[in-house]
Amino acid sequence: MRTIVALPGDGIGKVVLPESIRLLEAAGFKANYVWGDIGWDFWCKEGNALPKRTIDLIAEHKIALFGAITSKPNDEAKKELDPALQDKGFVYFSPIVGLRQHFNLDICIRPCISFKGNPLNFIRKNIDGTYDEPLVNTVIFRQNTEGLYAGVEWTNPSQQVRDALETHPKMKFFKDVPSNEMAVSTRIITNKAAERIIRAAFEHAKIFGYKNVTVCEKPNVLRETSGMMLKLAKEISKEYTGIALWDTNIDAQMMWLTKNPEDYGVIVAENMFGDIISDGFAGLVGGLGFACSANIGETVAVFEPTHGSAPKYEKLNPSIVNPIAMFMSAVMMLEHLGENDIASKIKSAIAQVVEEGKVRTYDMMKIRGGSEAIKNGAASTQQLTDAVIAKL
Ligand code: NAI
Ligand code: MG
Repeated sequence: MRTIVALPGDGIGKVVLPESIRLLEAAGFKANYVWGDIGWDFWCKEGNALPKRTIDLIAEHKIALFGAITSKPNDEAKKELDPALQDKGFVYFSPIVGLRQHFNLDICIRPCISFKGNPLNFIRKNIDGTYDEPLVNTVIFRQNTEGLYAGVEWTNPSQQVRDALETHPKMKFFKDVPSNEMAVSTRIITNKAAERIIRAAFEHAKIFGYKNVTVCEKPNVLRETSGMMLKLAKEISKEYTGIALWDTNIDAQMMWLTKNPEDYGVIVAENMFGDIISDGFAGLVGGLGFACSANIGETVAVFEPTHGSAPKYEKLNPSIVNPIAMFMSAVMMLEHLGENDIASKIKSAIAQVVEEGKVRTYDMMKIRGGSEAIKNGAASTQQLTDAVIAKL
């Protein structure tokens, strides 16, 4: 039997992950789950939010379902570290970023697909005062390991770094700025990673019948890095007849997504731009309670909702958060494993619950979250899971 590494993490991750396993089991997915340690507690107790034993588990079993983690700035992280570990040189790093780097999970997939009848769906007002609700069906492919988020950056760059930068003619605009008044980030994109993400986007379009792939960059300004993405996309697109290649600039794309979001099929972008567009599109289909994702490398794949640990709701009992983002992440895992029948069964059960609208978490009710949400008619996380299970 298949083994899945379950990584609940912190806060609401500890709620939505077990609920998704309850759903997977009810839907007939046969697997063993081994539980892995990750997150804030392990930073505080051990000085490591991503212990080696967890990395070993994932390396062994290759597939992980991940809830969410809490990250805090360095000074706060230090204060919460076990007194016995203080001043021993432990430095906090985000364990999800750590996982992406360690296993080179370079392909991030973020589907933003509307459920019919979701009260949080994007609507558009027409000139005659009527409204329409275009159903969005966009899948964002975000390069997950390079670009602006690769972390190659400096505050007060050393002379050596400075000298290297000075070899670029455009550095003349900064030549009088002292290094200690400067911070520098790089945007490194490699051919291999760019090709992998673009190809993955086209393959997805081909398999799932999308008619266009949009490279969303800014090649008119970021001539080298965005230029490389666009050039590769043009080459690769020749292998995919029947799929149009579009290119948009990230800033313009953020405007167009609220005008004609239904036109976009697959979108591919560098790390930061992919992060931005996927949040933008997620807002059109229900926001954080609906935003799912996959991080896929050559050997390991990790599936997670895009939301964080939502500490303000962590202690509520019963829990009020929407587990659908986690459920849809589990569906992505099933599809990755080729369990398409169970995946469709779960998707259609979620779709029915959303469309019927009888059982809704607070976000779908458009009311405030908090301890009064249930009193005000919202379903709890568990009730929503029960409703989905009842539709299987
Ligand atoms: P967050 O995503 O945890 O929560 C922001 C707000 O969104 C919540 O207060 C809540 O109103 C809403 N929300 C989130 N998930 C929801 C759900 N499933 N159902 C209904 N409403 C939901 O982001 P925030 O507050 O900025 O960060 C909290 C912690 O999470 C931080 O420590 C942050 O570093 C971490 N984080 C972790 C991520 C991850 O594990 N991949 C991603 C984003 C943030
Ligand atoms: Mg983001």
